[in-house]
Amino acid sequence: MTKKRSSFSGKIGFVLAAAGSAVGLGNIWRFPYLAAKYGGGIFLLVYLILAVTFGFALMTAEIAIGRKTGKSAIHAFADLDKRFGFVGILASIVPIIILPYYSVIGGWVAKYLTVFVSGGASAAAQDGYFEGFIAQPFEPLGWFLLFIGLTAIVVLFGVEKGIEKVSKFMMPILVVLTIGIAIYSMTMPGAMEGVKYYFLPDFSKFSATTVLAAMGQLFYSMSLAMGIMITYGSYMKKDVSISSSVSQIEIFDTGIAFLAGLMVIPAVFSFSGGDESALGKGPGLMFITLPKVFNSIPGVMGSVIGALFFILVLFAALTSSISLMETVVSIFRDKFGWGRKFTCIVVAIGSILLGIPSSLGFGVWSHININGNTFLDMFDIFSNSILMPIVAFLTCIFIGFIIKPQTLVDEVELDGKPFKRKKLFTVMIKYIAPVCIVLILISSVLDVLGIVKI
Ligand code: PHE
Repeated sequence: MTKKRSSFSGKIGFVLAAAGSAVGLGNIWRFPYLAAKYGGGIFLLVYLILAVTFGFALMTAEIAIGRKTGKSAIHAFADLDKRFGFVGILASIVPIIILPYYSVIGGWVAKYLTVFVSGGASAAAQDGYFEGFIAQPFEPLGWFLLFIGLTAIVVLFGVEKGIEKVSKFMMPILVVLTIGIAIYSMTMPGAMEGVKYYFLPDFSKFSATTVLAAMGQLFYSMSLAMGIMITYGSYMKKDVSISSSVSQIEIFDTGIAFLAGLMVIPAVFSFSGGDESALGKGPGLMFITLPKVFNSIPGVMGSVIGALFFILVLFAALTSSISLMETVVSIFRDKFGWGRKFTCIVVAIGSILLGIPSSLGFGVWSHININGNTFLDMFDIFSNSILMPIVAFLTCIFIGFIIKPQTLVDEVELDGKPFKRKKLFTVMIKYIAPVCIVLILISSVLDVLGIVKI
């Protein structure tokens, strides 16, 4: 006898949980930085086109696989064709690697939130504050434990009572905060230069790498190729439309990324007097530059905006880590038949152990690195630049030529539901997406080897 699989209560619950996974740290710091670097408006346009073609096809495919099989990645592929079970295993490795280090960064966000809430804006704006904080052995570990503990509690409560409830609460707040801070940011002195920089296309910055960078970002941003959408699809009721859910998740994810640009770029421009290099790259933007920007806002407003910003980032990071942990939990439960509570505890302890090197890698263990890449960087590179493109490529080949796109089209059209971009889906999955993914893989391997810098 098989146990009944948990499910989301309906469409809104599903869409908000999936959007919660998609909207994460990548939307808030990586998207604005990339958009600024690759020619503003032109990058936005390329990203948008890719989202409704490439992103749409891959997301639809993963959700349909999950719902059709009712399994997490580890069994879903094997269920459809035994010979391809290994793709499910590869896909399952990705969230196991990402969850620990993502939670280390989530812990940093929680720390910054408390700093701003307790009026520490000026301390956080000091040069060297961030580097000093992450180099400590114990404090970042404590925040990491708190973050992963919070994630585990939600997952412990299950799909409907945990994940869905939290997503329904956090996602609307996240939208309101993003819009509010974006409006505030655009009214800062000198901010309009940033708005122009963000919107006006600079064609001289457009090249093939613009498309590749946009594609890589899209992939990560939509939480693809890591089994998440397969797991969430397996919790989706059969009478919910996959096609329109995917459209809504896309709008959510792309909309928040777009607004994050309006929140970050004008504020940084206002602070730096139009110097675009202040946008920096990676975590530096969020943990070094933005605290300085908030601290430069006169009066109490700096602490208020800073605290609201870090609440927003914390919510975005939490809903993403919840999706990661739920995916890992569902993999172990499917594999070993364990109960939810026991699996959650095992996964939480395992992730803590795996996360410790990432947390210590900026301080006591910083001597262990490859070309300056710490543990956290290495986990990130291996999962995002190598494993994910391989999983996505194999998924496309599997659907396109083994089980055939029609199998998933039937799942999307179940109950007479419409599938608006059906033709596009088939062509994308069979031909265009695999070629694009191979290009992403080649460019990221070259990037890792230091041959070409993206
Ligand atoms: N999609 C998330 C983002 O844009 C990233 C993410 C990674 C989410 C891993 C879940 C798991 O930040």
